[in-house]
Amino acid sequence: MLKDWSDVYLIGVPEIDQQHQGFFAASHRLYEGILDLEGKAAVGPAIAFMRTYAEEHFRTEEAFMRLHAYPGLKDHLYQHAAFFRRLGELENDLMIFGPSQRLADRALDITQDWLIDHIADEDMLYALHVKDGARKLQD
Ligand SMILES: [Fe+2]
Repeated sequence: MLKDWSDVYLIGVPEIDQQHQGFFAASHRLYEGILDLEGKAAVGPAIAFMRTYAEEHFRTEEAFMRLHAYPGLKDHLYQHAAFFRRLGELENDLMIFGPSQRLADRALDITQDWLIDHIADEDMLYALHVKDGARKLQD
């Protein structure tokens, strides 16, 4: 199910929050590209756009985590790598079986729904780590 962006997903780091909204938009574009059965040509570019967007976004997050010496970096990198693995599997299935509602739903699951869980379970942790560090400096 397509979900609207909500401010409950904000982690309090403006650049990353803005990218998370863009990630949502890329996810919706991918979903709609797959369902646009008239224009199968839309799928390849929508996957490519999603991949490029995710690469840029993860690069920003990873630089931010390194800058703040976030101890959970390694686990977080693993999550990002797993995202690309699933996106690659989806791309393969789209090439083999062609676009369908089932694959569009799976695309939403591994991009939009993944992002919602990833923000709550992983991104919030580095945001808290940075806020904690800032508070300790003030004390
Ligand atoms: Fe992340």
